[in-house]
Amino acid sequence: MLRLDFFSGRKAQPIADDSPWEVIDLSNLPQHIAVIMDGNGRWAVSRKLPRTAGHRAGMSALKELVTTCGELGIQILTVYAFSTENWKRPVDEVGYLMHLLVEYMEKELAELHRKGVQVRAIGELAELPQAAQKALNKAEQMTRKNTGLKFNIALNYGGRREILQALRQIAQKVKTGEVDLEQIDEALFSHCLYTAGLPDPDLVIRPSGEQRLSNFLLWQCAYAEFWTSTVMWPDFRKQHLLEAIRDYQKRNRRYGGL
Ligand code: IPE
Ligand code: IPE
Ligand code: MG
Repeated sequence: MLRLDFFSGRKAQPIADDSPWEVIDLSNLPQHIAVIMDGNGRWAVSRKLPRTAGHRAGMSALKELVTTCGELGIQILTVYAFSTENWKRPVDEVGYLMHLLVEYMEKELAELHRKGVQVRAIGELAELPQAAQKALNKAEQMTRKNTGLKFNIALNYGGRREILQALRQIAQKVKTGEVDLEQIDEALFSHCLYTAGLPDPDLVIRPSGEQRLSNFLLWQCAYAEFWTSTVMWPDFRKQHLLEAIRDYQKRNRRYGGL
């Protein structure tokens, strides 16, 4: 049985007899993990299933990811669920994804709340279907005072879109005289992003073999560590997360210094 003793000290207990990832250093966990949940469609097609089956299986992988992050004591998890470019897909697939989001919230919200998870949606939410907006509002309201894992779901999210809306906010403040040009700095800019108040991701995980950001957290990922895997998102398990964290712990983050 998989068992991690996360509260025993600096080193975790062996994860599992059959696991190659024996220990992770609990004193050096990434504070913020961001995940690009990719590969649902290919997972399904390789099994001769409709792409929608891959999205449904991806929902189970998400459930496991949130649980593991909570157990590990990860502070912030941000998942990429639907990009501003994903509207290009067939209308049926988009509809299914929106339906799955509502279903996920209906099924999982009570449990997330019980575990102290704080849910936040990031992206241009006003363009989502009413049912999705309603489900997200409910989740945010119910969990807003929770102090456990901060769980951000990026929906109708685009990094460029986010940067442009921040720019508009700041331009407006300059126009009204609330902000001087000299006052525009990284802190002010970060404050105008959807992720205001959150530290930047330390670790970005992308399954499915793709090695690109696909418009995810462009500003915030300036110094994030990137970890990719050929596993498709629906097959992403606890051990993949632990492998990613373990690899992250071997990195030397120099931030341009020596
Ligand atoms: C990720 O899986 C889910 C979304 C982008 C919404 P994909 O649907 O992109 O799966 P692939 O990349 O086609 O396999
Ligand atoms: C990125 O995956 C978006 C999400 C996972 C939500 P895509 O499948 O849309 O990205 P590309 O098209 O491969 O770059
Ligand atoms: Mg994809």
